[in-house]
Amino acid sequence: MHWSHAYSVLATAMPALAALNLKYLHPELAARQQLHYEQVATKGQQPPVEKRQTPRNLFLTDQTRKFAINGSALPEINFDVGESYAGLLPIEGNDTSNELFFWFFPSTNPAAQEAKEITIWLTGGPGCSSVGELLQENGPVLWQPGVFAPIPNKWSWHHLTNMVWIDQPIGSGFSHGNVTARNQQDVAKQFMGFWKNFVDTFALQGYKVYVTGSSYSGMYTPYISSAMLDANNTQYFDLSGMMIFDGLFSKNSLATDIPVASFVSQWKDIFAFNNSFSQQIEETSQRCGYADYLKKYLVFPPLGIQPADLPSQQPATDNAVDGCSLFIDVYLAMMELNPCFSVYEIADRCPLVRDPLGFSAGTLYVPDGAGTIYFDRADVKRAINAPANKTWEFCSTQPVFVDGLDTSVNSGPGSQPVIPRVIDATKNVLIGHGSQDFVLIADGTLLAIQNMTWGGQLGFQQRPIAPLYIPYHANEDFTSLTGAGVIGTVHSERGLTYFGVAPAGHFLTMDQPAVAFRGLEILLGRVENFQSTKAFTTERNATVQPNVAMGNGTVFAGFVETAGSFIVAGNNSVLSSTSTGTGAIPTSGAMGGRKQSGILAGGLLVMGLVAFLY
Ligand SMILES: *[C@@H]1O[C@H](CO)[C@@H](O)[C@H](O)[C@H]1NC(C)=O
Ligand SMILES: *[C@@H]1O[C@H](CO)[C@@H](O)[C@H](O)[C@H]1NC(C)=O
Ligand SMILES: *[C@@H]1O[C@H](CO)[C@@H](O)[C@H](O)[C@H]1NC(C)=O
Ligand SMILES: *[C@@H]1O[C@H](CO)[C@@H](O)[C@H](O)[C@H]1NC(C)=O
Ligand SMILES: *[C@@H]1O[C@H](CO)[C@@H](O)[C@H](O)[C@H]1NC(C)=O
Ligand SMILES: *[C@@H]1O[C@H](CO)[C@@H](O)[C@H](O)[C@H]1NC(C)=O
Ligand SMILES: *[C@@H]1O[C@H](CO)[C@@H](O)[C@H](O)[C@H]1NC(C)=O
Ligand SMILES: *[C@@H]1O[C@H](CO)[C@@H](O)[C@H](O)[C@H]1NC(C)=O
Ligand SMILES: *[C@@H]1O[C@H](CO)[C@@H](O)[C@H](O)[C@H]1NC(C)=O
Ligand SMILES: *[C@@H]1O[C@H](CO)[C@@H](O)[C@H](O)[C@H]1NC(C)=O
Repeated sequence: MHWSHAYSVLATAMPALAALNLKYLHPELAARQQLHYEQVATKGQQPPVEKRQTPRNLFLTDQTRKFAINGSALPEINFDVGESYAGLLPIEGNDTSNELFFWFFPSTNPAAQEAKEITIWLTGGPGCSSVGELLQENGPVLWQPGVFAPIPNKWSWHHLTNMVWIDQPIGSGFSHGNVTARNQQDVAKQFMGFWKNFVDTFALQGYKVYVTGSSYSGMYTPYISSAMLDANNTQYFDLSGMMIFDGLFSKNSLATDIPVASFVSQWKDIFAFNNSFSQQIEETSQRCGYADYLKKYLVFPPLGIQPADLPSQQPATDNAVDGCSLFIDVYLAMMELNPCFSVYEIADRCPLVRDPLGFSAGTLYVPDGAGTIYFDRADVKRAINAPANKTWEFCSTQPVFVDGLDTSVNSGPGSQPVIPRVIDATKNVLIGHGSQDFVLIADGTLLAIQNMTWGGQLGFQQRPIAPLYIPYHANEDFTSLTGAGVIGTVHSERGLTYFGVAPAGHFLTMDQPAVAFRGLEILLGRVENFQSTKAFTTERNATVQPNVAMGNGTVFAGFVETAGSFIVAGNNSVLSSTSTGTGAIPTSGAMGGRKQSGILAGGLLVMGLVAFLY
C-alpha cells in the first residue's frame, strides 16, 4: 500500500475538516497529519528542483547586458530569481515606435542547453499580459491571488527549458505602439518581426522553438506557429511543437452557449438551480438548436464538417435578442446562488481575495489599502526594464485589435484552418482543457477538434477515455502542493493529443501545475506521453510509482443531456444509457483551494466573454 502517497494527499485535504476536530474523529490519522505538517515545517522552503551547478550568465553578452535583470533586486521578492533578461524589442527592424515586451529566463536545466530549445508562453485576452501569467502561473516566482507574498515556483517551466514570456500583440501589457492588428495574420506578422530581433539579440539561431499559451492564445499560438512554418527558416523559426490550455479555436458560442446545458447537467450539484430555471435551460437549449448541434457533432468519429453558421451567432450579446443567450442566463442565475461565482473556476466561492495583479478573475477587485498593482509600480518597472510611462493592466482596457474586432474570430473559422498544418508538420501538438472551466467549456474544444482535418482524416476517430496520469511526487512544501495520480482523460491520434483535467478550471497551470509541467516534459520529448509512470525528470529523488491498473480516464469527454432526472450520454460513450451520473461523470470531489472568483457586473460580463478570455 502506498501509504506515504495517500497520507500526503490526505494531509493536504484535511484543513476542510478543521471545524470538526480530526483528533476526535480519527486519532491515528490526526497523528500522521501532525507528523507530516511538522516535517514540512522543519524542512521549510526547499530550493526548487535540481541543484546541479550550472554557470550563471549563460546569455550575458555586450549585446544582452542592457536587458539583464538583477535577480536579487526585485521588489517584494526576498530570494534570487536567477539569471533573466527583460525589455522591449521592435516588431520591425530598428523602429522603436512599436515594440513588444519580453521577460526571458534561461534554464538551469542542462538538458535545455544541450537540446538548444526555447519555449514561448503567450497569455490570451485578447490584450492580457504574458508577464502577468509568468507571476501567477508558470514562472520562476509566483504571487497568486490570496497568497501572502511571492514564492519560488517549484513547477516553473524554466526548470525544464529556456522560457520567454512575451506581451503581445501591440497594446498588451508593457508592449507599446500603434494598434494596427485586424486579424491573426497581423498578430503573427508583429510577432515574427519581434522574434527575429529576439533571436539576433540572444544568439538563438538554430534553436528549436515551442509555442505555448492559453485561452485566447488558442488563436495566437496556432497562427504564430503556422507563420513560423511558412517562413521556412529553421535558423530563426524552427517550430517543433505547440501546446494550448483552455483555448478558443472557433466562434465564442461553440464553447459557450452550445454546450452550456450539457455542462450544467454534468455539474448539477454546483449549478443547483430551482425547477423552473432548470426547465428553462433545457427549453432554451432545445429551441435554440444547441442540444441538437451537440448531439449531432460531438460524436466520435465525427459526423462531418460543421457549418460556418452556428445556431447562434457572435457577438454573444446578439443572442439576447432571440432569447438564446444561454451562457449569460446561466451566469446571472448562478450569481444569485453564489455571488462570487467565477466563470474561470466553477468551484470558487466567496470571499473575494486580494489579487496582487488586480485582476481577481475579472472582478478587478482591489481591497482598500492593497496598494498599487505589482507590475504598475514604478520600482517594479525600473527593476525589469519596463517602460515607465506605460500603465500596466493585466488585461488592457483599450482594444488590441482595430475597432476591437479580430476578424479571424468574428467572421472566420478561428484557428481551425491553421492548426492541422502545425500538427502535420510537427506531429507534436497538445491541447488541454480544465473540466471546471465555464468561460470556455471543454466541449467547444472537442467540437473544434472534430471539425479539423489532419493526417488525412477528420477529427478523432475515438472518444477520449484513457487515463491521464501524473506521477506521485514529493509534496514536501506548503507552497508547491499539486495533485497526482489519474487526474483526467487523455487521447492521441496522428500527432494531436487532447487531455481533459479534473479538477482544474480555466487557469490549468495555476490549478494543476504538475499537469502543465508534465505537458511540457512531453512537448519537449523528455517523457513519452501522459500514460508514462516515469517520475518527473526534475525530481532529485524520484518517487516510486504504484504498479497498479490505472483504469479509465476521469473526465467525461462528450455531451450529456438531461431526460427528466436522468442523465444520458450520447452514442459511443463510456456511460451506460441509464446512468444517473455515477461512473465516468465527474463529480464534485476535491476542489482546488484557490480563492479567486468572478463577480462581473452586467457591463463587465461582456468583457469577460469577449475581451477577457485570457
Ligand atoms: C543586485 O541587487 C542586490 C540587492 O539590491 C545588490 O546587493 C547587488 O549588488 C546587485 N547586484 C548587481 C550586480 O548589481
Ligand atoms: C539597425 O541599426 C544597426 C546599428 O545600430 C544597423 O547596423 C542596422 O543596419 C540597422 N537595421 C535597420 C533595418 O535599419
Ligand atoms: C501611429 O499611426 C499614426 C497614423 O498612422 C502615425 O502618425 C504615428 O506616427 C504612429 N505612431 C507610432 C508610435 O507608430
Ligand atoms: C525552404 O527552404 C529550403 C532551403 O532554403 C529550400 O530548399 C526549399 O525549397 C524551401 N521550401 C519552400 C516550400 O519554400
Ligand atoms: C468547420 O470547418 C469548416 C471548414 O472546414 C468551416 O468553414 C466552419 O466555419 C467550421 N465550423 C465551425 C463551427 O467552426
Ligand atoms: C428560480 O431561478 C430563477 C433564475 O435565477 C429565478 O428567476 C426565479 O425567480 C427562481 N424561482 C424561485 C421560486 O425562486
Ligand atoms: C513614453 O516614453 C517614451 C520614451 O521617453 C516616449 O518615446 C513615448 O512617446 C512615451 N509614451 C507615452 C505614451 O507617453
Ligand atoms: C535522496 O535520497 C538519499 C538516499 O536515500 C538521501 O541521502 C538524500 O538526502 C535524499 N535527498 C533529498 C534531497 O531528499
Ligand atoms: C444512437 O445510436 C442509435 C443506433 O445505433 C440511434 O438509434 C440513436 O438515435 C442514437 N442516439 C443518439 C443520441 O444519437
Ligand atoms: C472503461 O471504459 C470502457 C470503455 O468504455 C468500459 O467498457 C469499461 O467498463 C470502463 N471501465 C470501468 C472500470 O469503468
